[in-house]
Amino acid sequence: MEKTKVGIVGMGTVGRGVARLLLNFGDRTARHAGRILWLERAVVRDLSKPRPDVDLPDNVLSADLDEILEDQGIVAVAQLIGGLEPARTIMLRLLESGKNVVTANKALLAEHGPELFDRARELGRSIAFEAAVAGGIPIVTNISQCLSANQINSIAGILNGTSNFILSEMEESGASYSDAVAKAQELGYAEADPSMDVDGSDAAQKLAILAHLAFGVRVPWREIPLRGISSVNPADLRYAEKLGYRIRLLAVAQAVTDGVELHVSPTLVPIGTPLAEVRGAYNAVRVHGDAVGSVFYHGLGAGQMPTASAVVADLIDTVVGRLPITFRTLKLWSDDYAVVSPKDPGMIPGRFYMRFDVDDRPGVLAQITAILGRYQISIAAVIQHPEETTEKELSATALTASETEDVGNGHKLIVPLVIMTHETTEKSTRDAVSEIARLDCVHGECTRMRVGN
Ligand code: NAP
Ligand code: HSE
Repeated sequence: MEKTKVGIVGMGTVGRGVARLLLNFGDRTARHAGRILWLERAVVRDLSKPRPDVDLPDNVLSADLDEILEDQGIVAVAQLIGGLEPARTIMLRLLESGKNVVTANKALLAEHGPELFDRARELGRSIAFEAAVAGGIPIVTNISQCLSANQINSIAGILNGTSNFILSEMEESGASYSDAVAKAQELGYAEADPSMDVDGSDAAQKLAILAHLAFGVRVPWREIPLRGISSVNPADLRYAEKLGYRIRLLAVAQAVTDGVELHVSPTLVPIGTPLAEVRGAYNAVRVHGDAVGSVFYHGLGAGQMPTASAVVADLIDTVVGRLPITFRTLKLWSDDYAVVSPKDPGMIPGRFYMRFDVDDRPGVLAQITAILGRYQISIAAVIQHPEETTEKELSATALTASETEDVGNGHKLIVPLVIMTHETTEKSTRDAVSEIARLDCVHGECTRMRVGN
């Protein structure tokens, strides 16, 4: 059977998975590609690093990128190093040496997409990036090809496996936030800098890519309003459950009359709905199109083999010539796409969850509800269960231990107060909360989260 030579740059979690699929399941890739995808070279930074989960033939591993650049027989390269540099320079050099590139690096595309895609088109090369969004879920192909007869109205997704894993661990096994982060790193889900996972940046980069494909606009990802999961307290997970919800980091893009509204934020999702039941490193994306209606995708969004699955599929599409056609037709990130700033989500209607740490004395609730009333915010539910909140959780909001001590009859001086609103706006809750925070009876930061459907 004919052989087509391919290369890999970066043999970390994903790169090793790609090598395993190419080497161990060559018959499978050959069946789909009609030829053998031959792993000719895998370039790393540090040759001495152990890579026990992959058994590479002699002479495949190298620390010299030129061995790929100068080999005219290598037609497609999986570029699997993270971050912006040297990833950007390496991608440009690969394209300039005649290679088609496959990547999982969404940070690179969200930041330098226009430059890289323009250069690829000038050179008649392609960049494939199925693995850059939602790992093993084929969402890029689905939105850009399978749903192309639709006007997409909205996308709502759990797009970061690490933060979903952390929330699930805290919810299901009571793990601490820091233990859950460490476990996600150990399992290879987290970025080299996990703050991108937990602060919502990674999800915002993926959302910008999906919005580009779905709405035909270029969104500067840094302008997407985002909030991460680091402020989610175990007590919030428990209160949410009592109210019938789970907390998920949702990335939402919605077409509105004069633009696109986008945001990434921890959101209360009703228990029993598909997004609420997404656990561990799984991702999910709900897309609504005018012809197809609502479509739901679910699968592992991070981890070695799910991500490698998407990379190898892109390599196959590249070598058989399926991908370059779509790439040229779509003209991704070209000037054909208007640059839009996300609309301020302040006026988007929704319900909200709020938690305040307040003095446990008569009149406090009345002061707070009076302020909410002035902002036309109507209350759907109130919870105050001091016995269920640990001192550590309260002190996380900057209280001293003595303030949280039991002062007799099971009463503490400061207790959490949870309020769920009826429909209002982000702006009304933001303004009301900043006024409430100035009351003497309210301590520390208020937690405020959207409630989804
Ligand atoms: P990783 O485990 O940190 O691996 C990165 C690899 O890049 C390492 O093998 C490193 O080499 C190599 N590298 C760095 N600089 C290099 C250079 N100058 N020349 C050659 N090699 C270089 O990262 P990963 O988790 O595999 O992620 C790779 C990309 O996939 C990232 O963009 C990430 O966002 C994306 N992604 C990851 C996942 C996931 O679940 N992990 C899922 C989807 C997308 P050494 O080994 O020699 O240090
Ligand atoms: N760090 C990313 C995540 C990898 O956890 O989702 C997949 O892009």
